[in-house]
Amino acid sequence: MTTLKLLLLPGDGIGPEVMAEVEKVAAAVAEGGEARFEFERGLVGGCAYDAHGKAISESDMALAKAADAVLFGAVGGPKWDPVPYDVRPEAGLLRLRKDLGLFANLRPAICYPALADASSLKREVVEGLDIMIVRELTGGVYFGEPKEIRDLGNGQKRGIDTQVYDTYEIERIARVAFDLARKRRNKVTSGEKRNVMKTGVLWHEVVTAVHAREFKDVTLEHQLADALAMQLVRWPKQFDVIVTDNLFGDVLSDIAAMLTGSLGMLPSASLGEADAVTGKRRALYEPVHGSAPDIAGKGLANPIAMIGSLAMAMRYSFGLGATADRIEAAIARTLAAGLRTADIRGDARSVVSTAQMGDSIVAEYRKGA
Ligand code: IPM
Ligand code: MG
Repeated sequence: MTTLKLLLLPGDGIGPEVMAEVEKVAAAVAEGGEARFEFERGLVGGCAYDAHGKAISESDMALAKAADAVLFGAVGGPKWDPVPYDVRPEAGLLRLRKDLGLFANLRPAICYPALADASSLKREVVEGLDIMIVRELTGGVYFGEPKEIRDLGNGQKRGIDTQVYDTYEIERIARVAFDLARKRRNKVTSGEKRNVMKTGVLWHEVVTAVHAREFKDVTLEHQLADALAMQLVRWPKQFDVIVTDNLFGDVLSDIAAMLTGSLGMLPSASLGEADAVTGKRRALYEPVHGSAPDIAGKGLANPIAMIGSLAMAMRYSFGLGATADRIEAAIARTLAAGLRTADIRGDARSVVSTAQMGDSIVAEYRKGA
């Protein structure tokens, strides 16, 4: 059995609390002999700024590059609002994504049957929902230059962000989406704003061409991103895989999270290009939720998105699909047994703490798939 090198970057706010539960689950996986882990730990976000004035240090970046996978908690909080823009907590996450080349962000939104009533949408709209948002993660307006606030010298300033996409960036994310669709329900919906944006025109053209060249067997449809947002709350079960750019993907995945009951439920995988020789991809796994500073340190956070991110690491980085299934089954059984953290409380009479939720998932995991 090979040893899997994981770098844990718990970050700020509820990050450390939910990461502690992941460590329990990983210990149970190791105990069962399914994998052996070697953990490194590092700082990212506000805590890294406090320690060394940067959102991530060079040595932690080096650990991230050397790891088989990075597990990331969350970053940010009001404490760091006054910090200069370049070293704000989020800069650590963005640097990890960019420097590791993690262009493909997979955000699965699954509505566990036990949680259909926790969503703000009607049960029939979300029950059985299983969609995958594929978000482009290293391009677009997040990284485009120029990106600045210019002083116009007449008492006015100009804020500038640049939305930019090259053909190859759209091609590779489209391929990820089509490949995933083939293993699912074989449908891809591509979202852009070609009615307003040149990047949208190119996005539409390139996705259409990749489809015609390589993926004719997959159903492709295009929706304008605003209409897609509307359809996502109107009838989300029409979707299988959604592929979209960095910014639209950010917004649409928060919407998708609420379909599942809570932002506390959504895991994600951020993957790089597969190595031509080894087939290995750089990878980072993180919950879609943020650092939730308002509830940090109170044992209220839902650890399921973070634990689900570990399951995704098993599946996408280590080829341990059965282990991933077993973790996800443990989550489903824990929910079916009625355990609820505050965010997915619904009509539940009592709620459990972060640690109780983690312990229960570990206990269910030990029972097997
Ligand atoms: C996300 C987050 C990040 C993003 C922030 C924390 C920079 O909202 O992963 O969705 O905007 O990508
Ligand atoms: Mg977001």
